[in-house]
Parts: sequence; structure tokens; C-alpha cells
Amino acid sequence: MNIEIAVNQIEKSALAHLDLNDVSFGTTFSDHMFIADYLDGRWQDFRITPIEPIPMHPGNAVLHYSQTIFEGMKALRRKDGTPVLLRADAHAQRLNKSAQRMCMPEIPQELFLAGLRRLVDIERNWIPHSEWGFLYLRPYMIAMDDSLYPIPSKKYKFVIITSPSSSPIYGKPVRLITESFYVRAVKGGIGEAKSGGNYSASYLPAAEAKEIGFDQMIYLESPDFKVIQEAGTMNLFFVIGNKVVTPSTTGTILRGITRSSFLTLLEDNGIKTEVRDITIDEVVQAYETGNLKEAFGAGTAAVVSPVAEIVHNGFVMSLPPISEQKIGASLKADLAAICRGEKKDKWGWTVEVHS
Ligand SMILES: Cc1ncc(COP(=O)(O)O)c(C=O)c1O
Repeated sequence: MNIEIAVNQIEKSALAHLDLNDVSFGTTFSDHMFIADYLDGRWQDFRITPIEPIPMHPGNAVLHYSQTIFEGMKALRRKDGTPVLLRADAHAQRLNKSAQRMCMPEIPQELFLAGLRRLVDIERNWIPHSEWGFLYLRPYMIAMDDSLYPIPSKKYKFVIITSPSSSPIYGKPVRLITESFYVRAVKGGIGEAKSGGNYSASYLPAAEAKEIGFDQMIYLESPDFKVIQEAGTMNLFFVIGNKVVTPSTTGTILRGITRSSFLTLLEDNGIKTEVRDITIDEVVQAYETGNLKEAFGAGTAAVVSPVAEIVHNGFVMSLPPISEQKIGASLKADLAAICRGEKKDKWGWTVEVHS
């Protein structure tokens, strides 16, 4: 594939007015964006432009039927300042799995990577230097037909924008409550796809959980509300006895890339892992017998989010203090060390970006 990217670079970066050590997740955008159009059955017109609105007809299909998918990934820095992309191949593959499910055209992996590398190269100064800061990368695809007919579009846009963050999204250990009314996803649905509707559908349950003092809810598989799915935008891990257990991905939860990295790191460190259905009753029982040692959420933006408390049907499980929850913390440190180049990247998870 011939990938020529036309670049229109701005003269003055908005970075001059920003303190990269004090930016909250998702609120600030870098100077440029990457765009490609899907027209007449092929991807074309690859370009990097100053970040600007996307003009859209009010009858555009994406506004009505949510034919939209996205990825969430990161650029970080090596110790010497060189930018690196983390697990870019895995994100490209997952975007294409979402595209298949949502009846959208796939993005050739080489186009996805070329767009990302060029954009991150241009925006390299937007990657925070702080220990846990990162440049969040948001590749996404939207339907572009001007049509109210509820069928897949013929036209699409693939866009990449970037947003710096000075720290992971959850600053402190989270309080979680199990959800036994709302569902996030069902087997055969679109829970495994990173598609917009999955997220807006969780706003109401999340708001209700917040109202009663929780950071997020744990979704359980309907109709029995026993098998654990995930919490908000994080995959869950439970340390039970000497094993680390995480739910299997059977179509209702996102195949988290942090989750996959953690499973590899755990096995590499000789820690026993189990990927299987886990019920909330099993977690309660482990708690009652003193075997629930640790619980944490895993995701790109949170990395590791230790769990302080889980409440199920009014039963409160207080997890050990964070100083004793060692496994999540060591996974977070290992992944950061691989990105910084302080630990060998045995699995080729990082790609350096050079001009
Ligand atoms: C619903 C959901 N679950 C889990 C995750 C974690 O996935 P990843 O590790 O690929 O970021 C995310 C991503 O942010 C998510 O949106």
C-alpha cells in the first residue's frame, strides 16, 4: 500500500500555554490530527492537519445510528526522551475486530501505524515527561453517509487525535458496587467492540453508583447476575490465595490490551493465573475465608486501579490496605519499565518513533 501523508503543520504550538504537569485526562488536545477518507471502497487522502472541526450534515448517519468505533492507546517516553507507542499492533487488530462487528471497513494495519507514527512524531513535545504522564492516542472511525436509512454507510472517516494527561485517570483506590439491574452487554451483543453506544449506555448506571458514593459498578452477566464482567472501563483482576484470576473474554467484555499484557507478565514472573468465569459469590467466599488478597482494575488510561472496597447486595468487602496490594503495583511498575526501556521488551510491545 502506498502511504503518502500530506502534512499541514501549524506555525505556533498551543503547547506554549500549557503546563503538561497539570492536565487532566481527555480535556486538552494537541495541535494536529490525522485523517483518512473511505470513498468508493478504498481508503484515500491521508493527511495531517491542524486540529479542527469535522464538517457534517445534520443527517449524517453517525449522529443517528452510532456506527462508530475507536481505540484508546498511549505514547510514552523512553528514559532518553524517545517517544514510544505501546502495543500499537494489538490496538490496530482490535480496531479491525470492532470494525467487523459494526459493519465498517477495516483499516490496513500499515495505514493505522503510519498515521500514528507520523502524528506522534509531529506531536512528540506533547508527551509529558512526568513519571506517570502519557499522550493518549484516540484513533476512531465514523460513518459519513448523509442518510437516515438505517444501513451501513458507504463513506467513512478514520481520524487520530491525541490528548496529553499528566497522570492515570483514577488517582486513588476505587470503591466498587455490583450492578444487578442494568447490563452493559449480553452475549451476541457488541460488548466486545469498542463502539460509542457501549459507553453512553453505561452513563446512567455509573451516575447512579456515583450518587451513592461509588467510583464505578461491577457489571454482572445477565440474567443471573452472578458471573463478573468488568468495572466501568477496566478489566478486573482478583488475587485469591496465591492465584490471580480474571474473567474470560466470552463476547461481553472488552478484550483489554492491558489485561493481556498483565497476563503475560504474571506468567513470566511465575505467578499462577486463571482466566475463567468468576462469580461474585466466589469473591464473597474468598473474602469471608481471608483469601481475597487484592483486587484491581486494568486499562490503558488507569493502568492499574487498586480496589479499596467492593459492595455486593449490601455486604461490604474491604480490601487490604494499598501498601499490601503488591501484585497490581508491580505489574504497573513492570509495564512502565518496559516502556522506559529499563526492562527488556521481550514481546516487542513498544515501537520507538524516530523522525
Ligand atoms: C469497557 C472497557 N473495558 C476494559 C478496558 C481496558 O482495555 P485496555 O487495556 O485495552 O485499555 C477499556 C479501555 O479503556 C474499556 O473501555
